[in-house]
Amino acid sequence: MSRERIGLGVIGFGWMGQAHTRSYIRIPTLFPERTFDPDLTIISDNVTDRIDQAVESFGFRSGTTDWADVINHPEVDVVCICAPNMLHERVAVAAAAAGKHVFCEKPVGGTPEQTVRIEAAARAAGVITGVGYNYRWAPLVQYAKQLIDEGSLGEITNYRGRFFSMYGADPMGLLSWRFKHDQAGYGVSTDILSHSIDLAHMLVGPITKVVGTGHTYITERPLPKAGGTHYDRGRPGDPTGPVENEDYFAAMVEFASGARGVFETSRSIIGPESQNAFEVYGTEGSIMWNLETMNEMKLYLTSDRARGYTTVYAGDRYPYHGHFVPGDANAIGYEDMKVIEDYEFLSSVAAGRQHHPGFSEAIDYVSVQDALIRSWRSERWETVTRLAEV
Ligand SMILES: NC(=O)c1ccc[n+]([C@@H]2O[C@H](COP(=O)([O-])OP(=O)(O)OC[C@H]3O[C@@H](n4cnc5c(N)ncnc54)[C@H](O)[C@@H]3O)[C@@H](O)[C@H]2O)c1
Repeated sequence: MSRERIGLGVIGFGWMGQAHTRSYIRIPTLFPERTFDPDLTIISDNVTDRIDQAVESFGFRSGTTDWADVINHPEVDVVCICAPNMLHERVAVAAAAAGKHVFCEKPVGGTPEQTVRIEAAARAAGVITGVGYNYRWAPLVQYAKQLIDEGSLGEITNYRGRFFSMYGADPMGLLSWRFKHDQAGYGVSTDILSHSIDLAHMLVGPITKVVGTGHTYITERPLPKAGGTHYDRGRPGDPTGPVENEDYFAAMVEFASGARGVFETSRSIIGPESQNAFEVYGTEGSIMWNLETMNEMKLYLTSDRARGYTTVYAGDRYPYHGHFVPGDANAIGYEDMKVIEDYEFLSSVAAGRQHHPGFSEAIDYVSVQDALIRSWRSERWETVTRLAEV
């Protein structure tokens, strides 16, 4: 079977850069029906050891400390942006101007304004875009969407979304780029809340009104050391600097459908280690899902004579799952969601069609975020207005 070669240039070889690269390597073994073959063309990172690792252990054909080399490489078709948020706008705008398709890790921009400019540049260039809202690709989340779309839960009345993570819970965690406004943008409202709203938009539809509030609990952190990562720790007495964005955000919302919802996100909470969870309630049923137990979903249907929550285990009868393991209740994991995400994005590129979620969905998200930031300041309900380049 003849397949289109897709040349890949990855920018940033930390957690996400490595995860996407493992996806590109695994796709041919997991998706024999694919219409393309990923080609690891060039990697960029500003840490040379990471470039060496990418070339020697992952199989990239070349590496560079200058991300512009990736954009300008004639054999690169897709630029995958996995660098810290402050680089996204410059890289994405340059990649689109060079006619490259762009996959950008979330958030597309650190602030709503940056996201608007990036989306406008990609739209003007006519390139295909994708965003790393990976949780929507979990097989049971896809199944939840099927159940909601086919009306099994009846009319959706209310939604609860939360993303509680401990990635910023240790006060000795360094003042990495994630905690600086000029490098990350806002805090959890830019970061993990985007995943919660993406899931809600996919499952229940657009949000039209919001009221919200944020807070920073850990206001000072030890200064980072050269070459370190976000996960390094300081020691009491180390010099510190101020945290510039919020640890916590909470919101009440109204959906266009009339459903109501509540959201809560924190990066500095103690206990829930990576609790990206949702509950959807309808007139005839409800669903609960939590990333920490991503191979399980609780389902309640009034049509079920037994009445009570049923535990649904992920298995090969649900979307994508059988690509990884056959049978019932054999679990899949975090990076498998990234593989599905990358498979779907590269399939869109090979077919020449716009991808979802792309930068348009990122605008949907930052339009909600913009209203939330306004509400935090005004202490009132605010209407969501779709942001777009004027
Ligand atoms: N989808 C998700 O669930 C998810 C999870 C984590 C992170 N992210 C996003 O992915 C992006 C990267 O986060 P991460 O956790 O991988 O961060 P990371 O710190 O682990 O990796 C970032 C990498 O970028 C490199 N880098 C920095 N400046 C560079 C430059 N000028 N040129 C090239 N490389 C440069 C760093 O050396 C590092 O290797 C962020 O936007 C983040 O929000 C998404």
